[in-house]
Amino acid sequence: MPRASIDRAVDAQLDQQSERFVDMRIDLVAERNSAVIITAGGVWDTRTKRYVGESEMSRIFRAHEGQIPAAEWFATWLEAHLRGEELYELGQPMTDVLFLGGRRGGKSNLAIALLNTYLVAAPRRIGWIVLPTFEDRPEIDRELDEALPRTWYRAVGDPLFVRYLANGSEMYIKSSFDPETLKRGRADIVIVNEAQKHKVDVYGTVLPAIADKGGLVIMTANPPKNARGEWVAELVEKARAQRVNTRIFTFDPKLNPHVKRNILASLKGKLDDRTYRREVEGEFLPRTDAVFHAYSSEFNLEPVPDGPGITVSFLRRKLNVDAACLHGMDFQKDPHMVAASLRFFEDPEDPGGDPLVWIFDEVLIEQGLEDDLVDALEAHGHTGADAVVADASGEWQDAERTKGRSSWDVLRRRGWRKLFMPDEMSKRNPPIMERIAVGNSLLKSADGKRKLRIDPRCIHTARSVRLWENRNGAPNRRSEHAHIADCWTYPAYRLFPRRSGRGGIEYARVERARSDRQRDLEAF
Ligand SMILES: Nc1ncnc2c1ncn2[C@@H]1O[C@H](COP(=O)(O)OP(=O)(O)OP(=O)(O)O)[C@@H](O)[C@H]1O
Ligand SMILES: [Mg+2]
Repeated sequence: MPRASIDRAVDAQLDQQSERFVDMRIDLVAERNSAVIITAGGVWDTRTKRYVGESEMSRIFRAHEGQIPAAEWFATWLEAHLRGEELYELGQPMTDVLFLGGRRGGKSNLAIALLNTYLVAAPRRIGWIVLPTFEDRPEIDRELDEALPRTWYRAVGDPLFVRYLANGSEMYIKSSFDPETLKRGRADIVIVNEAQKHKVDVYGTVLPAIADKGGLVIMTANPPKNARGEWVAELVEKARAQRVNTRIFTFDPKLNPHVKRNILASLKGKLDDRTYRREVEGEFLPRTDAVFHAYSSEFNLEPVPDGPGITVSFLRRKLNVDAACLHGMDFQKDPHMVAASLRFFEDPEDPGGDPLVWIFDEVLIEQGLEDDLVDALEAHGHTGADAVVADASGEWQDAERTKGRSSWDVLRRRGWRKLFMPDEMSKRNPPIMERIAVGNSLLKSADGKRKLRIDPRCIHTARSVRLWENRNGAPNRRSEHAHIADCWTYPAYRLFPRRSGRGGIEYARVERARSDRQRDLEAF
């Protein structure tokens, strides 16, 4: 239907119902004490097409405790937006926000309330609700039907799914099943519901749609359970690393009084542990085939405290060296040279026990050599006064696998002389499975302690810990993530070796005759 006749049709319908003026106001208030967070709209004059005064009647949306922080942030964004300004963070205008959490926290409910508030506050604007498929519509239709008084809009159904509001704003329901449909037209506000179920290009496709008027994309998501939703986990990781200014709000279902919380809690006994943690607690879990299955971005990813902590005393005790920082290094030109920088902190939950091990910096150089690695570390402010636990094979070959030229010699020549082998008892690298076992036990020990923390700025390390996968039952050595895992598990193994205790099973290493090439394959 052409625009002009739609206008006439909507006007005609609304005229029939309500004469010239429509009370069109939304108040978003805190359920707890009715404090007003946003008030939008007023008396809409269908003839002059503007708000002409305060409306006494208001559609009130009550936000529960779990929704308040996101609602308040949106109020700030909206205020700036209606003034024609943008909110800036990390030097960039804010364009998108992610509502995250376990099931039933009130993410979709708030997102729709904010969309309606926006479309009422700003006449003649366009809002989209983007669903993974049209089969997901009934839930959203129900929320929408409850959200707005029937007299405020006219719905045009199949195949348009549009609601034309009396104030000229339009709300479209779309599906990303065919992403091409998202490339048509502009929008001022877009809700991407259940973001983890969309194809990855939904994010890239809807962001340009809001560029015209500096609008906002609001995504709601549960932690993804399969590869399709992996981009949400990546976005969260980048946002926590402050690489993108996507704002994240976590919705706790336990704060939503509109669902039966005792039933949610009772699911603990009915669902398997992974499903419960993902769906109810909203935890991002590593994939089931993850090498570092003990990793959790909720608990192992955390900004590093200031200062060196107890690094100096810890390293003196463990390695008999004076250093305020320890680097793990792995040497190979192809695909990359990598280093991870570690510091150690007293564990407040385990005073006197093993310290917290914090990976707080990283360097990754594609197609690099030893000098490039040292240059990059020094550019980050590190020096040869720091200690290093490095790939043991670097003692007899370099990054280009040239025998007789040694990576360790390059380090020594550059003044990095506090070098240690990953295995105190051997000149060879400890077996990969043993290093992984140490890594997993630091990520989460059998008694639930999480000693290893990764600063979110270490984006390569965090990503590799999350994504490195087993293939056919063994860690995939061809994965791009394998070398990064090497560089931090060398120091981890050196400091926290897992040796079979007295009386336990013991095993000796038996050297077999083999070619150098085979030796390489095992060592790397
Ligand atoms: N402020 C509120 N007022 C009234 N009902 C609410 C409110 N917040 C949430 N609800 C209700 O609680 C239920 C769960 O909310 P919602 O569907 O928004 O959760 P969600 O976080 O999107 O969950 P899911 O992850 O399952 O999609 C819904 O029935 C919703 O209508
Ligand atoms: Mg939802």
